[in-house]
Amino acid sequence: MAIQKPRGTQDLLPSVLGNWYYIENTIRRLCKTYGFEEVRTPMFEETGLFLRGIGETTDIVQKEMYSFPTGDKKDQSYTLRPEGTASAVRAYLENKIYGQESITKWFYIGPMFRHDKPQAGRYRQFHQFGVELLGTQAPSADAECISLVLQLLRDLGLKDLNVEVNSVGCPTCRPAYREKLIAFFEPKKEELCELCQSRLYKNPLRILDCKEEKCQQLAVGVPELSDNLCEECQDHFHHVKEYLTAAGEKFTLNPRLVRGLDYYTKTAFEVQYTPLGSQSAVAGGGRYDGLVEELDGPHTPAVGFAMGMERLLLALEKQGLLPEQQQEDSVFVVALGEMAQKEAFRITNALRNAYVKAEMEGSGKSMKSQMKYANKINAKYVIIIGDNELAEGKVILKYMDTSEQETVSLAEITNRITELVKGN
Ligand code: HAM
Repeated sequence: MAIQKPRGTQDLLPSVLGNWYYIENTIRRLCKTYGFEEVRTPMFEETGLFLRGIGETTDIVQKEMYSFPTGDKKDQSYTLRPEGTASAVRAYLENKIYGQESITKWFYIGPMFRHDKPQAGRYRQFHQFGVELLGTQAPSADAECISLVLQLLRDLGLKDLNVEVNSVGCPTCRPAYREKLIAFFEPKKEELCELCQSRLYKNPLRILDCKEEKCQQLAVGVPELSDNLCEECQDHFHHVKEYLTAAGEKFTLNPRLVRGLDYYTKTAFEVQYTPLGSQSAVAGGGRYDGLVEELDGPHTPAVGFAMGMERLLLALEKQGLLPEQQQEDSVFVVALGEMAQKEAFRITNALRNAYVKAEMEGSGKSMKSQMKYANKINAKYVIIIGDNELAEGKVILKYMDTSEQETVSLAEITNRITELVKGN
């Protein structure tokens, strides 16, 4: 059997890339408005970065990483990045950005890799647009990130969005809550799903957002995180909500929203677009005040989010919100005869030098077949050059929309076409 693309990956062919450019351009424009600058970090990092950054008990680290030997040092491996936050923090530290600016606002767009079971909206190579705002613990920064993601989705035309917010506490209040959770679920341990049984002592908070019906039933009456926050976390969350209200953003409180990465502290949020079905989380993020220190940097509170580009595209497609691709006016140069081919090449080149989209066919095909191709590529103008016309220093210019044609001198044709195209 012929070799096929790896499971859970996609070929982005020219016919769909226009949609990607459209979204990426909208993202870049909006990020500029909010003062975020683009960064690009390597697509693979030392495995230890993700072990320490994302957390050893998370699904990502336990079963979804693509790791391979570095080939340089024994016992050292690299991992294809499963997400962008750990890499952004590594770059922030390695380039000593913390010493140069007090607040850093970065965004990135690029492929991420997770070895998960592929399904609609869940891939093994997918793309994220992510934002990281480092150096401030101000609740307005959390609200700024949430506003940015909501504005982006609105600007792209999506309605009926739901952003769920929660506070997941901090190292001051979480350990006691963790103990309460273990005490609550321990007597029901055998009834929990297999995954939650394994989470009970390692990461009991994740039981709260398990999608299994039986685990949700068992969680009825569980002590709520919101009742167990320390004063600082409560106060911070209160202000985040006030800032969101001041910005006119609607949100839903979800006290069970936990998120699958260990670095979160205080605010956590997720944007759901329910028409997408089971993979309805279009974006997710939150605050990670301890991550920079965890990776051996100075204390640096931070907040951010990432959006799944494929899920966003699916949502836009579903709602018919992807704009028609604009066709540029283009020219096709038909050449009949060997001399004519050289002249056609000269004209095509001159047009391209003037940034007019121009093409020709150099293998000496018939007039009919060259015109067929001109139609296929939707050429607006066709220049026809035969050896006879050439001897007279002329070419034929055909307007494809009206089928009218006229004779133009060789000396004038490039300027004439450039004026027609640029004058539009
Ligand atoms: P995450 O929730 O793991 O967070 O991923 C963010 C988004 O990426 C998800 O909401 C989803 O849209 C998309 N996504 C995740 N996995 C897949 C997949 N297998 N296929 C398609 N799309 C997927 C993070 O990655 C954090 N780094 C976000 C963050 C940034 N938090 C703070 N700063």
